[in-house]
Amino acid sequence: MKSLSPTNIDYFDYNATHPPLRGLIEEAYSEYLEDFYNPSGATRFSLKNQGRIESVRKYFAELTNSPEKNIVFCSTGTEANYLLIRALRERFPETSAVIVSPFEHASMYSALSDHHFEMKVLSSDPSGTIDLEHLEELLKLEPLPIVCLHTGNETGVIQPTLAIKKLADRFQVDFLSDLMQGFGKTNLDFEHFSGFSFSSHKIGGGMGSALTGFKFPLEKYALFGGGNQENGHRAGTENLPAILSFRSASEFQIKHLIEKNKKLSQFRTMIETELETLGCKIIARDAPRVPNTSFILLPIEEIDFFLLGMEEKGIMISTGSSCKSRAREASASLIAMGYSKEESLRCIRISTGSFTTNEEVIRLTETIKELLTTFGNVG
Ligand SMILES: Cc1ncc(COP(=O)(O)O)c(C=O)c1O
Repeated sequence: MKSLSPTNIDYFDYNATHPPLRGLIEEAYSEYLEDFYNPSGATRFSLKNQGRIESVRKYFAELTNSPEKNIVFCSTGTEANYLLIRALRERFPETSAVIVSPFEHASMYSALSDHHFEMKVLSSDPSGTIDLEHLEELLKLEPLPIVCLHTGNETGVIQPTLAIKKLADRFQVDFLSDLMQGFGKTNLDFEHFSGFSFSSHKIGGGMGSALTGFKFPLEKYALFGGGNQENGHRAGTENLPAILSFRSASEFQIKHLIEKNKKLSQFRTMIETELETLGCKIIARDAPRVPNTSFILLPIEEIDFFLLGMEEKGIMISTGSSCKSRAREASASLIAMGYSKEESLRCIRISTGSFTTNEEVIRLTETIKELLTTFGNVG
C-alpha cells in the first residue's frame, strides 16, 4: 500500500497523523463520486448510502462489542471526546466531578470543563502510568466516573486499563477512555471501557471521521441539533467517504498489526539504543509502551536550532502533542511525571508507522547524531 507522503520527506510524526492509505481512500472517494447522494434523503439512492454507513456502524459495533445504536460517527477526535463527555453529563446530570489522568489530550480537559465537571487529577511518576493506589483512594472517598486515555500521545505509555476496569467495577463507576493513540497500534480489549473514542486519520483513513462508542444505555445526547442523523446524536450530513475509509483503514491496521509491530519494535530499539549512546534520555523507557513511539530528552539547549536542522534535512519529528507542536509549551504530561519545565522543553517525539523503512531510521539516527554534535558536546 503506497502512502501519499512526498518521497523526499522522512516522516516520523505518525502520532500527529498517519499518512493516508492511498488505495483505500481512493476507493472510498470513487464510490462517493459515483454515488454522491445525501445519505439522509428519502430516495432509494440516499437509502443505499445510508445502508453503507450502517454497515460501517455494524462493523465497529461488532469490533468493539457495543450496541450499534451506541456507535456515533463525527468529524474528528476532538469532537468525539466532546460527545463522550456530553453523554456522561446526560447520564449523570448531578455528578459534580470526575477522576481524570494527568495525560489527557487538551480536548478532553476542555470537554470536561465545558460540561462543568470538576477534575480530580490522578498522580503519576516518571513511569508515565497513573498511580493506581491514588485512584483507589479517590474512589473510596467518592465513587466518581474515571476518565483515562489508553495510550499517551507524547510518551506512547499504555495505561493499566485492566486494573482500572477492575477498580471501576468494584466501585460501580464508568471508565471512559480516549483510544486515539492506541487503536490500530496495539490489541485493545474493549471490555475494559464503558465509553471510548477513536479517529480515522490516526490510522491512515484520512481526515474527517472519528467515532464515540458506549456500552451503557443512553437515549438522549448530542452536541448540537438541527438534524436527526446518527440516531439523533450528531446532526449534520454524514461524511460518507470518510466513514467508508475509516472502516477499511481499521481493517488494514488490524490485519497487519502483528507484523507492523514486530518491525516497529526493532526500529524503536535501533533508535533508542543509538540515542542513549549520544546522551539522550528515553522518557518512560521501561513502562509498557506502544512500539511506534519514543519520547526523548535531548542533552542540548539549542532545541529550536536542532528542530530546524531536522527540517532542513527533510526529517519530520515532533516536540509533543500535535495541536501544540508549533507552540513551544512545556508538556503537561512530563510535568506530571516529575520533569522540570526546562527538561520538558528539550523533548522530541519520534513516532513511526506502517510506511517507515529501515533506511529512514538510519538517516534519522545519523542526522540526530550530526546535529547533537553540532549543537552539543557529543562526539
Ligand atoms: C490522544 C488524543 N486525543 C485526541 C486528539 C484530538 O484529535 P484531533 O486533533 O484529530 O481532533 C489527539 C490528537 O492528537 C490525540 O492524540
